[in-house]
This record gives sequence, C-alpha cells and structure tokens, in this order.
Amino acid sequence: MASKKRDILLLENIHVESEPALQQAGIGIRREGGTLEDQSLVEAIGQSSMIGIRSRTRMTESVINAASNLEAIACFCIGTNQVDLDAAARKGIAVFNSPFCNTRSVAEMTIAEIIGLHRGLFDKNSAMHQGRWDKSAVDSHEVRGRTLGIVGYGHIGSQVSVLAEALGMRVIYHDIIPKMAMGNARAVDSLKKLLAESDVVTLHVPETAETRNLIDKAAIKRMKSGAMLINNSRGSIVDLDALAQGLEDGHVGGAAVDVYPSEPRSGKDQFQCVLSGRPSVILTPHIGGSTEEAQISIAREVSMKLAGFHERGTTTSSVNVPEVELPHRREGQDRILHFHHNVPGVLSTMHGILAEGQVNIHAEYLQSTGELSYVILDVDHLQDDTVLQRFAAMDETIRLRLLS
Ligand code: NAI
Repeated sequence: MASKKRDILLLENIHVESEPALQQAGIGIRREGGTLEDQSLVEAIGQSSMIGIRSRTRMTESVINAASNLEAIACFCIGTNQVDLDAAARKGIAVFNSPFCNTRSVAEMTIAEIIGLHRGLFDKNSAMHQGRWDKSAVDSHEVRGRTLGIVGYGHIGSQVSVLAEALGMRVIYHDIIPKMAMGNARAVDSLKKLLAESDVVTLHVPETAETRNLIDKAAIKRMKSGAMLINNSRGSIVDLDALAQGLEDGHVGGAAVDVYPSEPRSGKDQFQCVLSGRPSVILTPHIGGSTEEAQISIAREVSMKLAGFHERGTTTSSVNVPEVELPHRREGQDRILHFHHNVPGVLSTMHGILAEGQVNIHAEYLQSTGELSYVILDVDHLQDDTVLQRFAAMDETIRLRLLS
C-alpha cells in the first residue's frame, strides 16, 4: 500500500521561503493571493490536505467541517485566534504556528520608539516635512539612566530588557510568574510599583481576562508624571480613552501604540482612533513583528513543522492536538497515524485487529490531551487494506493516515 500524495493551499502571500521544506517533503503547493472567506475558502481548499494562512483567513468551524480532506492548518504567524482550535481538534486536524520568530522585531521596534519618544523624533520629522525648522533641545532627552518598566517578561519583554540595558537604561519588570532577570534588570512585585518607578512603561503581556484594560484610568494615574507608555502587545490591554485623557492633561508624556481594540481588516478600510492626530504619539499599523527577517524565519519554521507532520506524523509544538515527536519510519515498515476519542479500550481493539491480520507492531507512541488521543504504530508493511478499513470503521476513530 502506498501513502496518499498531499498538497497545500497557501493563502495571504506567504513568504516563498516556505517552499523549499514543503517541496523537499514532496508536498504539492498551490497558491491564492490574499485571503478568502466562507464558501470561497472551502472551494479553494477543495481536496487539499493542508492549508497555510496568516492572520486574516478565518478558519471557522463550518469551514473546518466542510474541508473534509484537511489534516493540518499552518498559521504562518504568531496568533491562532483566527482558527477554531477546538473544532480542528475534534476533526483530528493539527494546527501549527510560529510563536517566537518575530520576537526580536518587536523588541527592536520598542527600542526605536523609546528613543524616538525621548527625542520627539516623529513630531520633528512631521514638522520638517511641513517646512518647519524647529531646532530646540527642549523636551529632548537621552534614554541613558532612565528607568524602563517592562510589564510581561516573556520572550519579547526579556529581549527588550537586554537591548535597553545596552543603551544604559535601568530596567525593572513585572510578571505574574517568577522570571530570571537578564543582566542587571530587577523584578518588582506589583504593577503598581512598576508604574510608580518607570520613566517609560512598555507592555508585553498576552491578551487574557486579567490583562484586559490592565492599563486603565487608575493605572495611568499611578504612572510618574511625564512618563511614557508603549503598547506593542494587544489592543485590549490599554483603555485608549484613559490614555488619551492622560496625554491631554499632560500626565502622560508620550505614547507609542501598535495594536488597537479594533483594527481594520485590510488596507482599504479607514483607520481612526482616539489618539489620531495627537502630538507625542507614535501610531503604527500592527507592524511590531512585521519584518522581512521575521517573515522568512516564520516561513522556514512553520514549513519545517508541516514537513515533519507530513513525513513522520510529528505534532511537536502543535497548539491543539497531542504533541508527539517521532523518528523516521524504518525501511520496510508502514506507519499508521490514528487520532481517536480518548476512551478506554481503543488500543486493545487496534492491537487485536493487527494480531488477527498477523501484522507485527515494531513501535508504538501515544499521547492524549483531554478528549483527543493520538497513537502512532510502526508495523510490518501492510499487504492490503483490511487493517486500515477495520481501523476506519472503529467508532472511536477520528482520523486515520498511512505512511508507507
Ligand atoms: P510570552 O508569552 O513569551 O510572554 C508574555 C509574558 O507575560 C509571560 O511571561 C507571562 O507570564 C506574562 N504575563 C501574563 N499575564 C501577565 C500579567 N497580568 N501581568 C504581568 N505579566 C503577565 O509572549 P511574547 O511572545 O513575549 O508576546 C507578548 C505580547 O506581544 C503578546 O500579547 C503577543 O500577542 C504580542 N505580539 C505583538 C506583535 C506585534 O506585531 N505588535 C508581534 C508578536 C507578539
């Protein structure tokens, strides 16, 4: 028996650096520029077993259920909110992403903004383009010796910490879990303390129930007078009206914002927010992680994950199905990949079917999360379809694949 040929539909102009790993794994590539929705998305997926998207393509439950051949969804980006992860898991469809490839890009932009805000670079630049020569040192400062408060000391926060210290800044940070300090950075045990001590506050937390409006009116009041705020994390984390008020009354000395509670879906839509048109505010269109370097590294990372899933069945770092790291299949053996409902007795049924067919098991791997289990069996080369047909007929079977 031979494995089925597989192909991938790539949407949203995913970087060409995704192609070498896919081609090497024998995955056929189809491309559609831009994004697609609902029925046109289902039609474009057709019989493809994989789809590669970025943040704009919404893989809803109805799309997932209609795409009957789909085995993997690859998000060539960080977030996976655009995919109904539970619906995908229920169908045994593995979802992959690239959680850290743009970390450095966000950290570098944050540093640029810290310096830009301290020197009024963006306002001065606008004035020059309008023909105004405003040569003055008033309100221009070095960042050396100033205190940077980092909220969320994860991948991005800790990189910002290293870069800021190299500029001579004092770095303090607050995280809800204990984190190892980089260099001379110092942990503070509350957001309150961080806000009271920092000349610049930069936010690098995820979007959670606890972080929603983390920076509200009260938090802004707790900031030092004239301190600056940077939000390159998620739009829901700052109450923009409260920030606008803080800027208006001069309590906040400047702000840089890359993410918004509601963002235009495409470049065709108009952008407007309460901070628009204010001086001392840098507004960017959610580009913190958008660099060529990040796109290349995301393309390489996600396509390698897809190749591993296609060639070996590996699900390492999948965000929704049990993670199993697998070696290459041995010459002369077949590999059966089986997603099933996590209930007692499934393995013994499978063992029984193999024993009745006189098929020897050479290796077995199993991982379960919640209601889903993933078992991988390396077995003698299957001479016909009998075993697979019996596996497919089991009530608990969700998805079955053969590597031969
Ligand atoms: P991460 O998961 O590595 O770090 C987040 C840190 O925040 C963790 O250490 C966590 O313990 C901490 N945290 C969670 N809740 C907290 C709270 N209430 N108070 C203090 N700390 C808390 O995440 P990473 O990769 O550093 O990303 C940070 C943020 O940046 C995320 O919101 C992500 O979506 C966003 N991001 C934005 C991009 C852009 O283009 N602007 C690009 C990439 C990421």
